[in-house]
Amino acid sequence: MNNFESIENFIRKVPKSELHLHIEGSLEPELMFKLSKRNKVEIPFKSVEEIRSAYNFTDLDSFLKIYYEGSNVLISEEDFFDLTWEYILRCKQDNIVHAEIFFDPQSHTERGIEFNTVLSGIHKALEKANFELGITSKIIMCFLRHLDEEPCFQVLKEATKHKDKIIGVGLDSSEKGNPPQKFKNLFEAAIKEGFLTVAHAGEEGPPEYIWDSLNLLKVKRIDHGVQCLKDDKLVEKLSQNNIPLTVCPLSNVKLCVFDKLENHNLKKMLDKGLRVMVNSDDPAYFGGYLNTNLIETAKALKLNLEDIKTLIQNSFKSSFLDEKTKNNWLNKI
Ligand code: ADE
Ligand code: ZN
Repeated sequence: MNNFESIENFIRKVPKSELHLHIEGSLEPELMFKLSKRNKVEIPFKSVEEIRSAYNFTDLDSFLKIYYEGSNVLISEEDFFDLTWEYILRCKQDNIVHAEIFFDPQSHTERGIEFNTVLSGIHKALEKANFELGITSKIIMCFLRHLDEEPCFQVLKEATKHKDKIIGVGLDSSEKGNPPQKFKNLFEAAIKEGFLTVAHAGEEGPPEYIWDSLNLLKVKRIDHGVQCLKDDKLVEKLSQNNIPLTVCPLSNVKLCVFDKLENHNLKKMLDKGLRVMVNSDDPAYFGGYLNTNLIETAKALKLNLEDIKTLIQNSFKSSFLDEKTKNNWLNKI
C-alpha cells in the first residue's frame, strides 16, 4: 500500500463528525425528481442527468438560486424525513458518528409549509438514526440573511417552542451586502433564549464580517471563514481563542472562492494553528460527502496523516457534544 492509499484508508475508517451540513443541500437529484412527481411540483428539468448538468456555479448567489428552487419539492413531513434519512445513510457509509445539521425554515415557511412539518420530519429521522445506527446529532436553525431582521423574530419564536430539538441558530444565504450587524438584535434575543450561535462569515465576504460575527453575534463557531487569512490580527484572535472554522473545500471550489482545490488555503490555515476542520456543506450540489472532501483535499494539498488527524480531532473538539462524549471519540482517533 502506498502512502496515499494508507491515508485514504484511514480517512474512510476513522470515526468522524460533521459540523457544517445544510440538510436541504443533501437533496440528491434522484430524490428531487421523485418528490417533484410525488408532490406534483414542477421543476425546470426533464431528467436526473439534466439536473446534475445544471450544477455549474459562478459564485454563491448563482448556487443559491438553484438550491432554493430545488427545495420547492419538499412539502410534507415525510419528504423532510426521507431527505434526512438519505443523509444519515451517507453518514453510515462515511463513518460519521456525529452530525450537526442546519436547516433553513424560512425557505419553507415562505412557501406556506409549517415550521413544525419541517422540524418534525428532520427530527424523526435523526431519532431513528440514533436508535438504529447509534449516530448522534444536533439541529441548528439558520436565518436567511438576504431577508430583513424583523420577520426573523417570528421564526425565533417558533424555535423557542422546540428548545429540546434545536440547539442553536445560524446565519446563511447571500453573504455580500448582508453583514452580521443586520442581525445583532435577533442574535441577542436568541442568546437570551438559551440558543448557541454560529454564522457563515468570510466565505465570500470580507474579514470584517468574521470580526462582527464574533463581536456582535457572539458566535461559538464561524462557518467557512476562509477569508480570515487576509487579516493578520484576525488570524491571531481566531487562533488564540481556538475559534472553530468549519471549512468546506469542495464547496469553495464549486462556488469559485478558489479556482482549484490545489489553491485552497486549508493547509495554510492548519499551519497557522487555526482550529479548522473539513465539512461537505451542500454535498448533493458540490460533488461529494465528507470522505470525498477529505480524500480529495488531502490529495490536492498533500496533507499528511497528522494533518488529517488534527482536522478530525478539531471537528469533535468544536462540536456541541458534552465533554465526556467528545473525549470518548477523541481517544479513538
Ligand atoms: N446555504 C446553503 N449553503 C450555503 C453556503 N455555502 N453559503 C451560504 N448559505 C448557504
Ligand atoms: Zn454552508
